[in-house]
Amino acid sequence: MEVMEFGCGTGSTAIAHAPHVKHILATDFSAGMIEIARGKATAAGVENVTFSQMAIDEYTAADGTFDAVMGHSILHLVEDRDAVISEVYRMLKPGGLFISNTACLGDKMKYFKLIGPIGNFFGLLPMVNVFSVRELTDSLTGAGFEIDHQWQPEKAVSVFIVAKKPG
Ligand SMILES: C[S@@+](CC[C@H](N)C(=O)[O-])C[C@H]1O[C@@H](n2cnc3c(N)ncnc32)[C@H](O)[C@@H]1O
Repeated sequence: MEVMEFGCGTGSTAIAHAPHVKHILATDFSAGMIEIARGKATAAGVENVTFSQMAIDEYTAADGTFDAVMGHSILHLVEDRDAVISEVYRMLKPGGLFISNTACLGDKMKYFKLIGPIGNFFGLLPMVNVFSVRELTDSLTGAGFEIDHQWQPEKAVSVFIVAKKPG
């Protein structure tokens, strides 16, 4: 599989998946995260992951480039999740998978919609977008994805979703 991961952080997910795929392009807009990720990959002897500093909102690839795209703990942080999801759909091959886990604060922590922006204003919190699991699955199906697998432990706010581009 040709895989892309955005918001890869320090690269643990990409490094764990590397032995099972052909190549992973792992991206993050933080130079510090990418530097740590490169160091971890070198230490682990992983050679089929390319770490690259870039914002997902700016990244573009040809239609149907990837077999799978991963975005873990990131969709609630991007400015326009629908635009990002549409781009992911476009970059996937028919039958390709978008694998994500996302904090959906809209179901259990609605109050965050009020305190989040205040915390962000004072530099205490990152800007977190508040939406429900239903709103997220609507975004995915609205872009054309089919929900292949969805899992959320009872008390968790994060939902794990495997979405498939029809083949
Ligand atoms: C909560 S961390 C998750 C890291 C990793 N995916 C994980 O699950 O451990 C979110 C990561 O996304 C990155 N990030 C946030 N917004 C981004 C954007 N628009 N484009 C690329 N990376 C972004 C941050 O730098 C951070 O490393």
